Amino acid sequence: MADEITRRKFLERGIGVMAGAVTIGIGGVALTSIGAPAVTNKLEGKWVEAGSASDLAPDKFNPVGLVYESKDGWMEGKSKMLAYVKVSGENILALSATCSHLGCNVNIDDSTGGFKCPCHTGVYDAAGKNISGPPPKPLKKLEAKIEDGKLMINTMPKEEA
Ligand code: FES
Repeated sequence: MADEITRRKFLERGIGVMAGAVTIGIGGVALTSIGAPAVTNKLEGKWVEAGSASDLAPDKFNPVGLVYESKDGWMEGKSKMLAYVKVSGENILALSATCSHLGCNVNIDDSTGGFKCPCHTGVYDAAGKNISGPPPKPLKKLEAKIEDGKLMINTMPKEEA
C-alpha cells in the first residue's frame, strides 16, 4: 500500500513537472516573439527601383521588369515580375501584368490600349478592368512613384484596377 501511494505521488509530481515544462516552453516562445522584428515576406511588398523615369514613353503603357530579393517564411531568393506603367503628367498608373485567371503575363493590345492574355484570350481595358474571357478580376494596381528621376514600384499589389 505504501508502495502504491509512493507511485501515485511520483506520477502526480511527474505530471506537474511536465505541465510546468510545457508552460515554460510556450511562455518562452511567446516572450521571444515580443519585440522581435516582424517577419518580412513578399506579402509586405518592397519598393524596387525600376529604371530611369526618363526612359518611359509618356501617355502609354511601358513594360517594366522587376527583379528583387524576396523572403517568404524561410525561403529567400530572387523574384521577378512584369508591370505596365503609364505616366501621364503627374499621374502614374502601374498595373501588374499577371492575369487574374491563371497567372499568365498579359500583353499590351495596341489596337485597344488595353491588354490581352495569350493563355485563354482574356481581355482587359486600358484601366486594367477585365472585360471579356475567363479573367474573374481586374489586373492589380501597384504603387509607383518617381524619386530622383528613378521609377520606384512597390511589389505588393494594393488593389484591383
Ligand atoms: S491565364 Fe489569362 S486568361 Fe487564363
